[in-house]
Amino acid sequence: MPEEKPTLDHEHRPTKLGTEFITKFYRLLKGTAIYDRKNVNIDRLTQECVQVINNIVRSEGNLFLKIVRDNFFFDNIRIIVSADKFPIFKAFWQDMRKRWIGEVEFSEEVNAEHLKDFIYLLSGLEENNESNYLYVKKQLEYRNIESIEVGKLEFYKDEEIYIDSEDQKKYSKEVYFKTIGLVKEVVDGINQQKALNIRKAKRLMQNAVNAIMQDDSTLLGLANIKNYDEYTFNHSVNVAIYAIALGQRIGIPKKHLSHLGMAGLFHDMGKTKIPREILNKTGKLSPEEWSIMRSHPVIGTELIMRMKEWGELSTRMIEGAFEHHLRYDLTGYPRLTRKRKISLFGRIISIADFYDALVRPRVYNRFPYVSEKILGIMLERSGKDFDPAVVKVFINMIGIFPLGTLVLLNTNEMGIVTQIQEEAELIDRPKVCLIYYGDGEYRKGKAVDLREMEEATKNFKRSIVKTLDPNEYNINVVEFLM
Ligand SMILES: [Fe+2]
Ligand SMILES: [Fe+2]
Repeated sequence: MPEEKPTLDHEHRPTKLGTEFITKFYRLLKGTAIYDRKNVNIDRLTQECVQVINNIVRSEGNLFLKIVRDNFFFDNIRIIVSADKFPIFKAFWQDMRKRWIGEVEFSEEVNAEHLKDFIYLLSGLEENNESNYLYVKKQLEYRNIESIEVGKLEFYKDEEIYIDSEDQKKYSKEVYFKTIGLVKEVVDGINQQKALNIRKAKRLMQNAVNAIMQDDSTLLGLANIKNYDEYTFNHSVNVAIYAIALGQRIGIPKKHLSHLGMAGLFHDMGKTKIPREILNKTGKLSPEEWSIMRSHPVIGTELIMRMKEWGELSTRMIEGAFEHHLRYDLTGYPRLTRKRKISLFGRIISIADFYDALVRPRVYNRFPYVSEKILGIMLERSGKDFDPAVVKVFINMIGIFPLGTLVLLNTNEMGIVTQIQEEAELIDRPKVCLIYYGDGEYRKGKAVDLREMEEATKNFKRSIVKTLDPNEYNINVVEFLM
């Protein structure tokens, strides 16, 4: 039996957009060989290309095309080349290959003059010169064109992620761990005053948004798994994931979702300046220690303000850092001298932060709460601590048995929640992967749907009795989710 595939519409989005772009871009490139820059045909081809580029930048946040060997990746997802488009792709590939250009990126909308500059630069490159991309970079810099970037043609996959769109789970998993790496890099950067590769960071967040939009079960599952080793890093990434998934359900446009993710990722940046003894203290904090601890939103805000290279993004990141411990009714901290409304990003991130902080144990909160209990608390405080509308969406999203929960069924079977039902009434009837014990370890059994009924009695075949702690059974939940 073939596996169930995500909807075609989402799956082929990179293919659709990538093909549109390559078609127009290649025509323009071909045009430059025949016409000079003042020719009307060039004007027309440029206009058509500008339109496609700017549409993509507006909806996706940026446009990133990369060639690795003979594969094309759009937004780091491989383009599936259809038979009728194959000749264009091949011709374009040959043209780029002889110029040693393998990466083109538009990070902002582009105007016709800049695009013309760029395309004539490309078309005038000498053949077989490996350092062509450096020349183009310099020329773009010289002309103050900041929104266009190029890179060298690579014949292997570098440290970034390029994954076939079909392998969604693997893609999501890599995004998760790469994002943890990014947070570490940023924290090290702050401590050692190193500059950060913002483009790379932004792209990674766009990957996370893509992954969540295509299938959020894997990433939400990863976020829900309690991890004790690297609390801070996992916490940051989890908050980003919850925030993006929540934002998507609320209807925030894709372009802004990656900003929301960034704001989530760095909401606790201020904690890097809080002494370790206080952060990791197991006992109760003294009043002075608490006040130091509570300064982290303000410290975080200051840190972000100093990072000039983040540009417009920093406003959004400040909302996350400054507002995430403020409550909906404006109590909480930091104390506000002037009452103002909390931003939507702030309201989303404070919910994601609250949930993730309680769902996993940390030093001053030794026992993790089960998710049902946290959602109960959130519902109770809805309207006071949290935006009631956003809380509602969040509870629906997490469900009472979040992905990755280990459950005991009334049939005495054990299972792991792998998929939540869309309908709110069926929140207690998720899809579950059964597990059984054999040859000294727990193994993956069949997948069952708790909505299934017994033909004769019209009773449910299986129901959840209670949740179990995977650590007690030595079960690594991740293995069963992937
Ligand atoms: Fe915080
Ligand atoms: Fe936090």
